[in-house]
Amino acid sequence: MGQQFDILLWGASGFTGRLVAEYLARQAGPEVRWAIGGRNRDKLAEVRRKVTAVNPSLADLPILIGDSLDQASLEPLVAQARVVCTTVGPYTTFGTPMVAACAEQGVDYCDITGETGWMRANIDAYHAQAEQTGARIVHCCGFDSIPSDLGVFLLQETAAQKYGRFCHAITHYFIATKGGVSGGTTASMLLTLEQMKEKSARRLLADPYNLVPGHEHDWSEVDQQTAVYDEDIRRWTAPFIMAAINSRVVRRSHALQGWRYGRHFRYREVMRLNDGLRGRLRANGLVLGLGAAMGLGSLSPLRRLAQATILPNPGEGPSAEERQSGFFLTNMLGKVSNEPAPGETWLKATIRGINDPGYGETAKMLGESALCLAQEDLPARGGILTPATAMGIPLVERLRAAGMTFAVGSW
Ligand SMILES: NC(=O)c1ccc[n+]([C@@H]2O[C@H](COP(=O)([O-])OP(=O)(O)OC[C@H]3O[C@@H](n4cnc5c(N)ncnc54)[C@H](OP(=O)(O)O)[C@@H]3O)[C@@H](O)[C@H]2O)c1
Repeated sequence: MGQQFDILLWGASGFTGRLVAEYLARQAGPEVRWAIGGRNRDKLAEVRRKVTAVNPSLADLPILIGDSLDQASLEPLVAQARVVCTTVGPYTTFGTPMVAACAEQGVDYCDITGETGWMRANIDAYHAQAEQTGARIVHCCGFDSIPSDLGVFLLQETAAQKYGRFCHAITHYFIATKGGVSGGTTASMLLTLEQMKEKSARRLLADPYNLVPGHEHDWSEVDQQTAVYDEDIRRWTAPFIMAAINSRVVRRSHALQGWRYGRHFRYREVMRLNDGLRGRLRANGLVLGLGAAMGLGSLSPLRRLAQATILPNPGEGPSAEERQSGFFLTNMLGKVSNEPAPGETWLKATIRGINDPGYGETAKMLGESALCLAQEDLPARGGILTPATAMGIPLVERLRAAGMTFAVGSW
């Protein structure tokens, strides 16, 4: 293949795409050959003007034009790239032709989807082909699901090194997040709510192993639905909305590694709240609020009204000030058995981002994923992979160097 570019940033004119373009303009060294692409040359020329202000060497940054819904228009673009990094979403609507083109041509791919129904369709349709061509197709390289997937991977590697065995259970506590949402994210969320009208889609989304086709399980690992007092940390916990995405990715990573943590390994994620009455009230309030939002969001006229009035339009999202004042902080509690001695040892992972999770830190996570696929010496393995199984520790190291915290210590 005559690959002219290390990275093609596809959808560079969108809200998140522009942030990733700025990230690459600052962080990609002169040795990285990259291009921006999408459907509108004028908008992309404006993006090039903006990134040239950040890095004057980008005045001639190449612009490639195609249509995400027309695979034939994408194929010649994909043939020029080693890695396609795409922010064109909702991915259920726009994403499949790009995945198909990359799987066919053996070109690496990363995105920031959280649409598990779409990911499952890609696993069914393209995993075997990507294994054959060597294409590393990596979904979920944003806030969903890099902190969860890489956090578990790092915690398990540390447990294995220190104690010679893996954690048999990990709970991921989301302690605090501050940030906003963009037009593309709300469109993707509303599309998921629309799909959930179908019983088969609801069942698939609820399945804890929906990204591991054919896996028989007893449904004991369903996501937390209620306020629960957690005896381990002596605090109240509430359901975390992204658990339905992140836990599926973690389980796919485990399956792709041949279930090396053991068939009984359990992973769950929740929001961590306070102890006492305050924590209990907040946890129950969050459960009620989440239920009400899902109920109202499932009503089509209300969804359309919200989209037309209060929700951001495509291309819009949180301001630079909002992104910079945002952050996220999570802890993981990993339990390692002391067998044959009684009891267990507890490990703690801390994962922290220094900008808002959905855009500032997501642009960093996606940009570093693209650079990692393009530049690092990674295991030669194709398929519909996960951040941990495609990139693992090299991506952890890159994100640490870019200011994120991935730390493991005693609990
Ligand atoms: N996982 C995470 O943490 C995370 C965080 C943020 C966003 N996201 C996801 O990222 C996606 C993008 O969000 P966003 O807010 O950045 O969206 P956006 O601002 O609406 O941008 C969408 C991009 O797609 C392009 N596009 C649309 N249709 C196209 C087509 N047929 N051919 C080529 N390009 C096309 C748009 O081009 P034009 O500019 O020409 O319209 C634009 O560049 C969403 O799916 C969102 O859920 C995920």
